[in-house]
Amino acid sequence: MNVSELRQDFPLFQAQNGKKQVIYLDNACMSLRPRPVIEAVTRYYTDYSACSGRSMHKLAAAVTAEVDEVRTLTAKFIGAAHKEEIIFTRNTTEAINLVAHSLDLKAGDAVLVTGKEHNSNLIPWQMLVKQKGIQLLVLPEGSDGQFDQAIFEQSLTPQVRLVSFGYSSNLDGVTLPAESIIKAAHKKGAWVLLDAAQAAPHRKINVRALDVDFLAFSGHKMLGPSGTGVLYGKAKLLDQLAPFLVGGDTVASSTYDSCEFLPVPERFEAGLQDYAGLFGLGAALQYLSAIGFDAIQKHETLLNQQISEGARDVEGLHLFGPADPARRGGIFTFFIDGIDSHRIALMLDQMANVCVRSGQHCVHSWFNAHHIQGSVRASTYFYNTPEEIDLFLQNLKKIRKVL
Ligand SMILES: Cc1ncc(COP(=O)(O)O)c(C=O)c1O
Repeated sequence: MNVSELRQDFPLFQAQNGKKQVIYLDNACMSLRPRPVIEAVTRYYTDYSACSGRSMHKLAAAVTAEVDEVRTLTAKFIGAAHKEEIIFTRNTTEAINLVAHSLDLKAGDAVLVTGKEHNSNLIPWQMLVKQKGIQLLVLPEGSDGQFDQAIFEQSLTPQVRLVSFGYSSNLDGVTLPAESIIKAAHKKGAWVLLDAAQAAPHRKINVRALDVDFLAFSGHKMLGPSGTGVLYGKAKLLDQLAPFLVGGDTVASSTYDSCEFLPVPERFEAGLQDYAGLFGLGAALQYLSAIGFDAIQKHETLLNQQISEGARDVEGLHLFGPADPARRGGIFTFFIDGIDSHRIALMLDQMANVCVRSGQHCVHSWFNAHHIQGSVRASTYFYNTPEEIDLFLQNLKKIRKVL
């Protein structure tokens, strides 16, 4: 992987009117976009600008064909057996809401989550506690604050019908042992949904090898356009799901008092879609596949080693997650005693154009449970460089000195 060559593809790295270059370390929130993705979006608007599926003319037929190709590409990208197992959504949040709304969960059934879930994999289940009387169980953490397989297996009571875990954490970057989790859950008759919002951009996923039941991820964290997301589901499970959003494009026919739903995936893609976004998503998946995840992971681990070693002598710095950077992917989250995390983020931005995220990263439940106010998160991607990490560290140390 040639990082400096790849950076040429990202307009945001090109000098802008003499402005200082951006050091973008907020990739866990949203990634930057390379030219092929931007061009694919523009190509939709310039060459087609029509709907998919509904009309007979050539423009519509071309959009239908390309969306179909992106679906096939997405299925291949995650190792799905059939393109019909891919449902396009606006994001991970919508994908999880679809499952929460449509899965046949009843009063007394339990959904098991970890204590470190993003709100998008917590609040939909909380709603089902209120609406249907399900139980929401939160997995206790192990003695090191991390996932513990033995505790997990003890928590798989007969009531647990769904295990819904974040595959890689947006809080500390730790990736869960999905294979053993899925095996244990299936043994007890529970389905598994993996929230792969932070995993899909950074690691090769094969849904068939994992035998996962549902997988959700967002295009915008992996070079794709804003507002693109994916729900994968095993065909036999998707067939059983109740409709979610309904209306145009979800039915083959209707009378005044009934309708005939289309098969999956159309049944779950209501209304006209973000075709430009899907064109861009296709380009993003091709771009990532050409680089390869081995190279991406290796690079991110090196950068995280550099951050972790460089930040070791910052007085009062508390790191989230394990000390070993290789276990934290591209994420370095911390707080510094006595300094407000938003203040650090604002100063990094003002002093050196360093973009990081601060606060509770949509994992408020974990912060509230641990009585921690906030944190700063630097998150890398394959286009970040050791020089950028040096600048981040230098400026962090300057801030520590003056505050
Ligand atoms: C682990 C995790 N799950 C879910 C989400 C929600 O993603 P989106 O906002 O794209 O729906 C995020 C976003 O930060 C995340 O990090």
